[in-house]
Amino acid sequence: MPRILLGVSGGIAAYKALEFIRLASAAGHSVRVVQTPTGRRFVGEASFAALSGAPVLTDEFEHDPARGAFPGQELPAHQPLSHLQLVANADIYLIAPASANTLAKLAGGLADNLLTSCALAATCPVVVAPAMNNHMYEHAATQSNIDVLRARGVHIVEPGIGRLASLGEQGVGRLAEPERLLSVCEEILVTGSPSGSAPDSGATSASSSGAVSTTSGGANAVPSGADWSGLRVLVTAGGTREPIDSVRFVGNSSSGRMGLALADAARLRGAEVTLVAANVGLQPPAAIAVRRVSTAAELQATCEQEFRTCDVLLMAAAVADFRPASPVDGKIKKGGRRRLTIELEPTADVLCGLSSQREPGQTLVAFAAEHGSDALEHARAKLSAKGVDAVVFNDISRADIGFESVVNEVTILTSDRAEQVPRAPKESIASAILDVVDRLRETA
Ligand code: CTP
Repeated sequence: MPRILLGVSGGIAAYKALEFIRLASAAGHSVRVVQTPTGRRFVGEASFAALSGAPVLTDEFEHDPARGAFPGQELPAHQPLSHLQLVANADIYLIAPASANTLAKLAGGLADNLLTSCALAATCPVVVAPAMNNHMYEHAATQSNIDVLRARGVHIVEPGIGRLASLGEQGVGRLAEPERLLSVCEEILVTGSPSGSAPDSGATSASSSGAVSTTSGGANAVPSGADWSGLRVLVTAGGTREPIDSVRFVGNSSSGRMGLALADAARLRGAEVTLVAANVGLQPPAAIAVRRVSTAAELQATCEQEFRTCDVLLMAAAVADFRPASPVDGKIKKGGRRRLTIELEPTADVLCGLSSQREPGQTLVAFAAEHGSDALEHARAKLSAKGVDAVVFNDISRADIGFESVVNEVTILTSDRAEQVPRAPKESIASAILDVVDRLRETA
């Protein structure tokens, strides 16, 4: 069970650290929390202790009832001599949110509280996710502190652009979303470095999305894979909803994470990306053009407008195959009914419609969630049935991957091979899919 030490410094975004613990625990990680005294003023230790299932420490000389052990780890027989036993036991140390003040202390090597002392004592990878007011973030002092940390090999999860805590304030400084923080940690735990980083090239990734970088240099450099500058990529994500009446619908549980990861990966390679988002609650990076839709018919109409000019189509949306034949205007009343039958009619197959109009030079990728013994063969049959170049197959009988999870495991089917991509964060899966698109475009 991977052990994540979470350092929470002062800032409104401290509440997002709670969600991080919930997601990390659900994904099977063991989490312990250290807070700065200011961090504790924003979200109290009781919430962190309840969610992590372990005591929370703030003071360097505080007694640790868990003796430096993480949940699931055996308690040592003796009280460790050092208050830093906790970080010695960690596989990764994530500091989120990292306030401007904490960043400055980390860059200066100060160790005036447990969070900063742990950072100095850490031998595991350290990930820092800044969150603050946009002016504080853009200040030369903060930027130079971030550069210092990067140069030392600290992974920086850059903040996103958007509404900030102060009333009416917009700008860069929002803490990266908890899902993003978790996938970065998982990626580092699995591979040693996050996708979207280019540790040896001196490049940074674009900064608007919670992107990760480990070295200093110019913004918007291509982090991995081929350069997609000049390519137009159309991505569909999420799940359609087909109305039963004005308030109810037939839908599915696709979160849109896979589509978002694909859109972001294409953007990081330099492509111009349009995302057709069907009921996606997650926030796409600001640099991506988003067209929001709800039903299969709306998705179809929007894709038909965008398809002609795209070079690559990544059809990750879960599109309803059927919809209520006669949606009711208003809310259906229960009345005295003991049973309600809703007649469904087929929707259009959006992908088949698009592939029938495809032009040479376009690359089309379908996604197939299948289960059962013939799952792989069903997925393979979609290569010709849908008129696409690749089908990304995932096995939905597995509860630990897929629809709502931050990780996935897929097989990418093309006419001549089946490439297995082992369990990994959706960002890594997205990168593997884009690599296959590169190969297809080279050989086309
Ligand atoms: N798709 C689509 N329009 C639909 C249904 C699916 O464009 N009405 C797309 C999906 O976005 C996906 C691919 O087709 O990229 C395969 O989806 P899937 O649901 O597996 O295909 P179906 O044709 O619905 O086949 P099945 O009967 O196995 O559900």
